[in-house]
Amino acid sequence: MNARVWVDVAYLLAAILFIAGLKGLAHPKSAVRGNLLGAVGMLIAIVVTLVDQDVLNWTWIVAGVAAGSAIGALLALRIQMTAMPQLVGLFNGFGGGASILVAGAVLIQLFSGTSGGAAGAPVAAAPELAATLQITVATVASGLVGAVTFWGSLVAFGKLQGVVTEQPVRYRGEQTVKIVLLAGALVMGVLIVLDPAQALNYWILVAIASVLGVMLVIPIGGADMPIVIALLNSYSGIAAAATGFVLSNNILIIAGSLVGASGIILTRIMCKAMNRSLANVLFGGVGAIVEDKSQGDIYSGRVKSTSAEEVAMILKTARRVVFVPGYGMAVARAQTPVRQLTEMMEKDGIEVEFGIHPVAGRMPGHMNVLLAEENISYDKLREMDQINPTFANTDVVIVLGANDVVNPIAREASGSPISGMPILDVDKARTVVVIKRSLSPGFAGIANPLFAADNTLMLFGDGKAAMDH
Ligand code: TAP
Repeated sequence: MNARVWVDVAYLLAAILFIAGLKGLAHPKSAVRGNLLGAVGMLIAIVVTLVDQDVLNWTWIVAGVAAGSAIGALLALRIQMTAMPQLVGLFNGFGGGASILVAGAVLIQLFSGTSGGAAGAPVAAAPELAATLQITVATVASGLVGAVTFWGSLVAFGKLQGVVTEQPVRYRGEQTVKIVLLAGALVMGVLIVLDPAQALNYWILVAIASVLGVMLVIPIGGADMPIVIALLNSYSGIAAAATGFVLSNNILIIAGSLVGASGIILTRIMCKAMNRSLANVLFGGVGAIVEDKSQGDIYSGRVKSTSAEEVAMILKTARRVVFVPGYGMAVARAQTPVRQLTEMMEKDGIEVEFGIHPVAGRMPGHMNVLLAEENISYDKLREMDQINPTFANTDVVIVLGANDVVNPIAREASGSPISGMPILDVDKARTVVVIKRSLSPGFAGIANPLFAADNTLMLFGDGKAAMDH
């Protein structure tokens, strides 16, 4: 067998490992193994690519790997768990940025030599017509999607980090501006395909697509950013797959397609969990962080606060208790006392389960990750559809730092940012204990009538301190 065949066999093995890895990630029990399989696949892909391709300059590659590893390690070590969504967003953006640069470099290397050549760039033999068409079309796709991903991700990062306003930025003629920008980018794309030697056209395309990326994300409210980040994740995969066609590199095409497909599936799952359509997220201008003025009316005189001692008494007589964790549990890092209390209750013969809302916290699987850190059995974690019918037979629900995902206002068909979002029906339980620091609203910025319900007791305080009591 010649070397080419060995390379393809190695790439095939890497692709199988990626797919097995993704399958593993579908369940918390197999997620660590899935991650490992994916990482081994990536190691094989990188090593084979480095050995196979004629590496022109190892110094630059080693310098790039060192700088990238240092920045990646620093970010990963310093980032708070609650800021993970914006970090993921930033990483998607870097993927898009890399696609722009790699595709642009190939374009210059292959074609600019025919019209004078870029200074210092080794000029390869110009490919034949069919190959030229594949490379140029794929380069246009890499530049366009890569730039939208890079700038869109930076805006999404800025919105979640509080650097850019979380409110939707809307203006008259917004859709027209986007259509004109897209048309301009496509015109540049056609020019590149017709005359790839004019490398300047590529950078004009990238500039137009960059503005388009900003314009696409800036009108979307902060509350919808996680969906946008999942979508941009998909875009980063599409850009990478396009770059795979530029380089005729099979493993990049496969890996990019897998990221593109899984990103779009995640986007769909998140839209469904928030009861939104993708079109509504992208063009609706909702997802604004609203200041709610009606809190006084909803809460006045009806909120009952309780103490840790009283809650302990109530729990003593309970037979079934359900924890409903939310973003506040992540902020308070209260998962350890949750595990300890669970163990104590189970020793007393109390049945304990966890109700997990698909968008509780700030990223997909946020609550599952935190509870898994404490080795809380996955069998106790129930999804919304499984746990909802059981609330009527539950003695006590402990809502720990959750707000929007248990807000009965969502049941109203319209009139609030969460209208129509499926929620955990905790209000059907005999007693609801809500642990949070104040009556402040959650992510959607609206009051929660659950806190004023007859069967609700509020235990005010930091989640961890309250659980430690
Ligand atoms: P939220 O509705 O955001 O409510 C979290 C609550 O935690 C707040 O009301 C806050 O009240 C409380 N809290 C904060 N720090 C606390 C602490 N140290 N101790 C105790 N409580 C604390 O959370 P949720 O119910 O998990 O809902 C998630 C929301 O985020 C949804 O609107 C969802 O659409 C959105 N979202 C979800 C995702 C994903 S993918 N999961 C991503 C982005 C946005 P106090 O200030 O009074 O303590």
